[in-house]
Amino acid sequence: MAQEEQLGIGIDFGTSNLLVYVKGYGIIFNEPSVVAFDIESGEVIAGGHDANAMIGKTHSKVIVSRPLRDGVISDMDAATALLTYAFQKVKGLKQIQNGVCMICCPSEVSQIEQEALKELAEQMGIGEAYIDQEIKSGAIGSGIDIYTPKAAMIVDIGGGTTDVGVLSLGDVVLSRTIPAAGNYIDLEVMKYLRKQHNLVIGSGTAERVKIEGGTLIASDGKRKVDVYGRDLITGLPSSAVVTSKILYELLLPIFDEITTAVYSVLEQTPPELAADIVETGITLEGGVSLVPGIKDYFEKALGLPVTLAEDPLMAVVSGAKVLLSNKGNYLVAPQD
Ligand SMILES: Nc1ncnc2c1ncn2[C@@H]1O[C@H](COP(=O)(O)OP(=O)(O)OP(=O)(O)O)[C@@H](O)[C@H]1O
Ligand SMILES: [Mg+2]
Repeated sequence: MAQEEQLGIGIDFGTSNLLVYVKGYGIIFNEPSVVAFDIESGEVIAGGHDANAMIGKTHSKVIVSRPLRDGVISDMDAATALLTYAFQKVKGLKQIQNGVCMICCPSEVSQIEQEALKELAEQMGIGEAYIDQEIKSGAIGSGIDIYTPKAAMIVDIGGGTTDVGVLSLGDVVLSRTIPAAGNYIDLEVMKYLRKQHNLVIGSGTAERVKIEGGTLIASDGKRKVDVYGRDLITGLPSSAVVTSKILYELLLPIFDEITTAVYSVLEQTPPELAADIVETGITLEGGVSLVPGIKDYFEKALGLPVTLAEDPLMAVVSGAKVLLSNKGNYLVAPQD
C-alpha cells in the first residue's frame, strides 16, 4: 500500500502575528498572536483578531494572553491553545499527527527556546518538527535565491524584534537580533502621550497611531491622528492629536538603533560577502517595513541599495512553505 503523504505545515509564530500554511490548503491562519481564555473553565473563547479586539477591555472572568514575547514563547499553554484554535478553523483538515512542520524563529534564540518550539509541535501532536531561522525563510519568501555563493542581507523589522542577517550558500552566516521593533515603537508612542499630553493610552491605540501616522519622510509631517485615552490627572476620558511630524521624530532614534545594528553586522561580515552586499544591498521585511519612506531612509543611512519585500508580512511563512520540502538540508535548493 502506498504510504500516505505527510501533511506539510509552515508556521511563522511571530510576537504580533501568527501565520500558518498547510500544504494543499494554503495559508489557513493569518491573525494576531493573541488568545483569550475563560478564567473559570480555562476554555479558549477567542483567538486572533477576535482576541486582539478584547485587549484592555476584559472583565475579571476573561484573560487575554500573547503567547510570545520578544520573538520567543513566553506562555506555552497560550501558544498551544492559539495553534489549536488556528487548526480548528479549517473544517476537514487531515490529521496533523502525520504532519511535518517547519517553525521559524528569530536568529538569536537559545537552544532552550528552540526546544520550546519543538515542544509546542509535540504538544500539538505533529509528528516531525524542524526549526529554522526566520531571516532565512524570509529571504526565500522575498524571492532571493539563497543557495548561491552570493551574499544577501535581510533586515526583518517585526513586532517583538528586528533581525539582521547575512546569508550565503543556503544558510545564515551571521546575524543579530535587537528589540527595537514594532512594540518598542508603540511603547515610545505611549510614553510620549503620557509625558506631553498627560494621556494614558492602551497598546492597541498606540499601534493604531503608529500605523496611521508613522513616517520616515521629513516632509510628510502634517497628517493628524486623533487619540483617545484617560487623562492622567483627572482620571476622565480625554483625547489628543498627534501629528506625523511628532511620529517622525519618535521614529528617528529607533531607526538609528536599527541602522547601528545593521552596521555592526556589516562590520563583522567577511570581505568577499561584504563585497556582494555592496551590489545586492539589503532586503527589508516584517510589518514595520511598511512605514512610508523606509526604503529611502535606509538607502541614505547605509549607502546601499534597498529592496522592500513584495509582501513584508508574508515573506517568512512563504519561505517556510519552500523550506518544508528540504527539511534543513541547507545546500540543496528545495524542490516543489
Ligand atoms: N503599515 C504599518 N506601519 C507601521 N507598522 C506596521 C504596519 N503594519 C504593521 N505594522 C507593525 O508591524 C509589526 C508586526 O509585524 P510582523 O507581523 O512582521 O511581526 P511578527 O513577525 O509577529 O513579530 P516578530 O517577528 O518580531 O516576532 C507590529 O508592530 C505592527 O504594528
Ligand atoms: Mg516575524
